[in-house]
Amino acid sequence: MQTSIIRSTGYWVPPNVISNEELVESYNRYATRFNSDNAAAITAGELADVPLSSAEFVKNASGIERRHVIEKSGILDIDHLRPHITPRPFDEVSFHAEFALKSVKIALEKAGIDGSDVDGVIVASSAQQRNFPGIACEIQSLIGSQGWSFDLTMACASALYGLNIANAMIASGQAKRILVCSPEIMTCINVHSRRDVHFIFGDASSAILVEAEDGQAGGWDVLGTHTKNKFSNNLRSDFGFLNDAERSVEPDFSPGLDQDGQKVFKDVVSFSPTVARELMDRLKIAPEDVRRTWLHQANIRMVEMIAKRILGRDRTPENAPGILHEYGNTSSSSVVMNFEMHSDDMAAGETGLMCAFGAGYGVGAAAIRKR
Ligand code: COA
Repeated sequence: MQTSIIRSTGYWVPPNVISNEELVESYNRYATRFNSDNAAAITAGELADVPLSSAEFVKNASGIERRHVIEKSGILDIDHLRPHITPRPFDEVSFHAEFALKSVKIALEKAGIDGSDVDGVIVASSAQQRNFPGIACEIQSLIGSQGWSFDLTMACASALYGLNIANAMIASGQAKRILVCSPEIMTCINVHSRRDVHFIFGDASSAILVEAEDGQAGGWDVLGTHTKNKFSNNLRSDFGFLNDAERSVEPDFSPGLDQDGQKVFKDVVSFSPTVARELMDRLKIAPEDVRRTWLHQANIRMVEMIAKRILGRDRTPENAPGILHEYGNTSSSSVVMNFEMHSDDMAAGETGLMCAFGAGYGVGAAAIRKR
């Protein structure tokens, strides 16, 4: 069976930053105006008021201090509450593909690989700009790859589902080089008028170049990958092509992101370490053999609890680094960004473990060893 290696990774984040203070100030202006405009209905008990948010709560409850976003003014404009994106003609590169390409080019350049040498492209992200043609098909064409491509969606675990498939396709001899990219424009999925989610997400794009092992030095051996699901309704985004047909008769239907944050927290903290441990057991990797785990960045308390259950020891910034404070939750790209920012100091032969979790619930894990 052919084994695979991670040859390179790349990530790109937009330069525009929104601090908690800026975001909460705009959200609170929106809430105050809503409550004032609807005071009579709220007093009569016909409508719920919109509660105020606080920058201090956001930092303490999540660990997030700021996030990078594709466009700032639209998110902070209380009449818009989402990024402004200029429409493009169909014969121009799409916004989503352009965003993905930024990290794809970095991963290819680092590996010194031309796009024409890539057999397959998987866009693995929480959502795609359109249903078809796949964003992966567009990227494949833009980089000059002659092989196959498809989009895959498994929320915050998408990148590791993509890595799992890439690993299996290389093992079976169907491909020698696969690009898994995760362009996550979460500020277009999030609902910035909903207090329990308005602060969670930032935007980022990441890419992983996976290759068949060919004796070349460098990179990371993929020791094994694993994915597992447990269905839950607690974290949803209902935007989809059936909405017009199925939901148009429901005036209150809201297709944006919604969650029961406490349930998600509790369920994911208990489920994801079991999936990571299943992989470790299969590969006969003991917790003390794992120098570092790169976890999906959803909430710093989740990172602490999940790291402890995977590693069997207290989480430290060394054994389970965090990037939430700067980027927020960048969905599936976060685990790749975290790996890239915190892996240079590892020595050849040392083992690490990526673990990502999210809606579905879906959990992906990958054990890797520095070459
Ligand atoms: N600003 C100020 N206060 C807020 C607030 C906000 N934005 N949101 C909630 N509060 C208040 C609540 O009203 C509550 O007040 P009370 O105690 O007087 O009733 C208190 O803060 C605690 O609220 P709670 O909902 O229990 O907060 P929490 O500690 O569970 O944190 C999340 C909320 C969303 C940060 C947390 O549940 C979480 O991170 N869940 C996982 C979500 C996630 O990561 N999803 C993606 C997974 S990939």
